[in-house]
Amino acid sequence: MGVGTTFLRLASLTALAQGLQLDTTFVLSQATRGLSAAGKATCLRGKIKVSAAANNTILLIKSPAGQPDLTQTTVDMAMAGVNYATMVTGGPTQVSGTYQLYVELCVPADPAAALKVKTLQFLNHGGTLDHTYWDFAPGYSYVDAAAAAGHATFNYDRLGYGRSDHPDPNQVVQAALHREIAHQMIGVLRKATVWGKRIKSVVGVGHSAGSALVMAIVGKYPADFDALILTGISASIEGIAIAQIAFNLIPAALDPSGRFNGLDTGYLTQGAVAQDFQFPFYRFPDFDPKIFRKQFETRQITTFGELLTFGSVIAPQPAYTGPVDVVLGQQDYIFCQANCSYPMNQAEIFVNALFPGQGSKSTFLQPNSGHLIAQHYTAGRGFAHSLQFLKRNGL
Ligand SMILES: *[C@@H]1O[C@H](CO)[C@@H](O)[C@H](O)[C@H]1NC(C)=O
Ligand SMILES: *[C@@H]1O[C@H](CO)[C@@H](O)[C@H](O)[C@H]1NC(C)=O
Repeated sequence: MGVGTTFLRLASLTALAQGLQLDTTFVLSQATRGLSAAGKATCLRGKIKVSAAANNTILLIKSPAGQPDLTQTTVDMAMAGVNYATMVTGGPTQVSGTYQLYVELCVPADPAAALKVKTLQFLNHGGTLDHTYWDFAPGYSYVDAAAAAGHATFNYDRLGYGRSDHPDPNQVVQAALHREIAHQMIGVLRKATVWGKRIKSVVGVGHSAGSALVMAIVGKYPADFDALILTGISASIEGIAIAQIAFNLIPAALDPSGRFNGLDTGYLTQGAVAQDFQFPFYRFPDFDPKIFRKQFETRQITTFGELLTFGSVIAPQPAYTGPVDVVLGQQDYIFCQANCSYPMNQAEIFVNALFPGQGSKSTFLQPNSGHLIAQHYTAGRGFAHSLQFLKRNGL
């Protein structure tokens, strides 16, 4: 089951993850093996180093000196007669570096299914979340659902998040650099083999800011993905400003949990009151309070670098002509102001406006769900819809 070229220390991967091999220049360090939430997938976890360069945007901002400073910025962002993003956007600037990223590669735990893997899904989490969004708990795991459908998944903490590196949150942690890092990883994954057989297709899957990132990737590299599953995103922006206020952003380093001690104050998170998390992300009473609690307590960060650069990548993508699936929680506040049927189906508006190419299109409004579709009682319906979409498209 060998692959021809540079194999490095990943040889041990064979034993670790059901024959999943990477033909790659990436070295996985601190590698561990484990199961997904419900045990449908066996996963290899660890850190890789990626060198990337990108044309980021100079942002004329500094990390907040404290809460009053950050609160005023939130006011400025919602000010009448001012486009804050335009006001603080300077010219392009080249950034480059070698960054350590936390990654997870999962293949079906059932050896017979692992032998038949053809498709790998590349998962991109949203803001103030991390890789755990996709594999949160039994019954709330897209990684499990994909493995049960015979797919491999690649899941990671975006730069600045979780166990990945935390460089300058304003000038470095931006959409353009995220895109180049992802593009490099996709190049490697396209050469991955499972039990000696090459992965045939890579699907770009996103949630919220992760969906914006998938769009940024196909905007520059349309051949990176054979299909797209975009969740928690639409073309409707009315709810975003209100949600941003509801976040009640704080410098993460000031979070009373102490989990973010030492981070630059440009790393932000939702306020420490559960309501700051519920309002933008959940619809009561359609979720398990234990799931909510766990997600709130393990919430992650975002940065102004992201908040000010992701907006511009949500744009028409005529160069990408493959299949696209869009899934929204019916009551998503951020992207629909809690009614995704208003004034018409927002998933349909989005897919038709932004993907004018020829590919097959599919949409689903997941009932009884806010923004975090993977963490409401109806999560499984959204997963099943997306996996059916891939099957219909031969993936
Ligand atoms: C950055 O911009 C320069 C000048 O337009 C271009 O030559 C270069 O390829 C860009 N780099 C990346 C990583 O996109
Ligand atoms: C959502 O908007 C649609 C279209 O205007 C409307 O028919 C529907 O009643 C609204 N849904 C709710 C729950 O109010």
